[in-house]
Amino acid sequence: MKNNVALQLFFLALNTANIIIDQSLHCNCVELNKEDCNVSSQWCIWNTTSSECQSYTFNCSNQTKETKCNIQSDLCKWNNGECVENYKVCSSFTIQSKCQNSSGCYWSKANICENFSNCSNYSVDNCPTQEWCSKYFGKCVDYVFVTCSQFKSMSTCSGFQSKSTYCVWDNNDKCTSFQQITDCSDLNNFNEEQCKQNDCVYENKVCRYPKCSDNTQTTCSAVRITGTSQYTLCLFTQDKCQDAKDVSTLTKDTCFLRTKRNYKWFNNQCVPCDNLIDSSFRFQFCFSVLLFLFIAV
Ligand SMILES: *[C@@H]1O[C@H](CO)[C@@H](O)[C@H](O)[C@H]1NC(C)=O
Ligand SMILES: *[C@@H]1O[C@H](CO)[C@@H](O)[C@H](O)[C@H]1NC(C)=O
Ligand SMILES: *[C@@H]1O[C@H](CO)[C@@H](O)[C@H](O)[C@H]1NC(C)=O
Ligand SMILES: *[C@@H]1O[C@H](CO)[C@@H](O)[C@H](O)[C@H]1NC(C)=O
Ligand SMILES: *[C@@H]1O[C@H](CO)[C@@H](O)[C@H](O)[C@H]1NC(C)=O
Ligand SMILES: *[C@@H]1O[C@H](CO)[C@@H](O)[C@H](O)[C@H]1NC(C)=O
Ligand SMILES: *[C@@H]1O[C@H](CO)[C@@H](O)[C@H](O)[C@H]1NC(C)=O
Ligand SMILES: *[C@@H]1O[C@H](CO)[C@@H](O)[C@H](O)[C@H]1NC(C)=O
Repeated sequence: MKNNVALQLFFLALNTANIIIDQSLHCNCVELNKEDCNVSSQWCIWNTTSSECQSYTFNCSNQTKETKCNIQSDLCKWNNGECVENYKVCSSFTIQSKCQNSSGCYWSKANICENFSNCSNYSVDNCPTQEWCSKYFGKCVDYVFVTCSQFKSMSTCSGFQSKSTYCVWDNNDKCTSFQQITDCSDLNNFNEEQCKQNDCVYENKVCRYPKCSDNTQTTCSAVRITGTSQYTLCLFTQDKCQDAKDVSTLTKDTCFLRTKRNYKWFNNQCVPCDNLIDSSFRFQFCFSVLLFLFIAV
């Protein structure tokens, strides 16, 4: 009897559980069919001899097409019809425009391309604002951190108090130092814009996580669980975008990509993959975008 109740509860939980997918993971190549293998060319390759999807280590010199080469633009570059490894040695760029195109390299006053050294080493036009330098009276200088609480009006409330906190005007009309949030409700005391900028939804003066039901038919796919690489899968059913409870409506064409490569089409069904591999997908927090915007001004 006890067992039976437990079993019922289990099925109840199973029925109502949302489907969580993780963008930082992907199905092991060996589980994939030809089509899904083909859309995973960063990690997988279709072996025409064995008709199997195989995993491989992306090797620049193996890429014969520019588009394939650029899939790993951090590692490889297209050069004279060949895909070659892109050793990022800043000093190898002798032209300013090439230097500026290469992330982490900056063109110094001495006209050399170098890893970031010191703000004072750069002209105001090439001031590396991403590296906590700011343009000040025609010079490139170290960024000066502020004390948020000293600002008494919304218009002056701006800047960074530390590398991880910046100033935001709150609903109590105070300038507060603001850190990366751990929960949308951390933003309840801030305005709507602050809530939205952090991928949360503002409703009835409360800041909450996004839900499938916030979406229309065209945007109904999956909602990020804020602050993670995980998503809740959404499906459009009964004229509404709702949390998906199963994947039975996904097809051969939609199963793999709609689940961000976490499910596969197998035996005419969409099923979770047996093994998920880390994609080392670097997802960008809203915070780092903000950071860039603020100092770049
Ligand atoms: C693989 O995808 C490319 C486009 O990305 C397409 O042109 C090609 O036909 C696909 N091949 C297979 C076998 O599906
Ligand atoms: C393709 O599969 C065959 C048979 O398993 C194997 O001998 C061959 O090495 C594979 N090709 C590549 C490029 O791995
Ligand atoms: C890529 O392939 C080339 C040529 O076979 C080889 O010399 C090189 O070691 C490979 N690189 C990696 C990272 O496997
Ligand atoms: C990459 O190229 C090397 C030779 O350049 C070859 O031995 C190797 O099998 C290739 N790997 C793939 C995955 O095509
Ligand atoms: C810099 O990058 C842009 C776009 O990524 C490209 O169009 C341009 O040709 C690049 N310039 C140089 C000098 O490599
Ligand atoms: C420049 O930065 C890169 C990446 O952080 C590093 O691998 C390289 O050693 C640095 N070069 C110098 C000269 O410091
Ligand atoms: C950068 O240069 C300034 C002025 O020359 C100097 O005061 C400062 O200590 C330097 N900072 C670093 C990190 O070297
Ligand atoms: C850049 O700044 C560092 C640290 O202040 C200094 O040692 C170096 O000589 C400077 N480099 C150039 C090219 O001015």
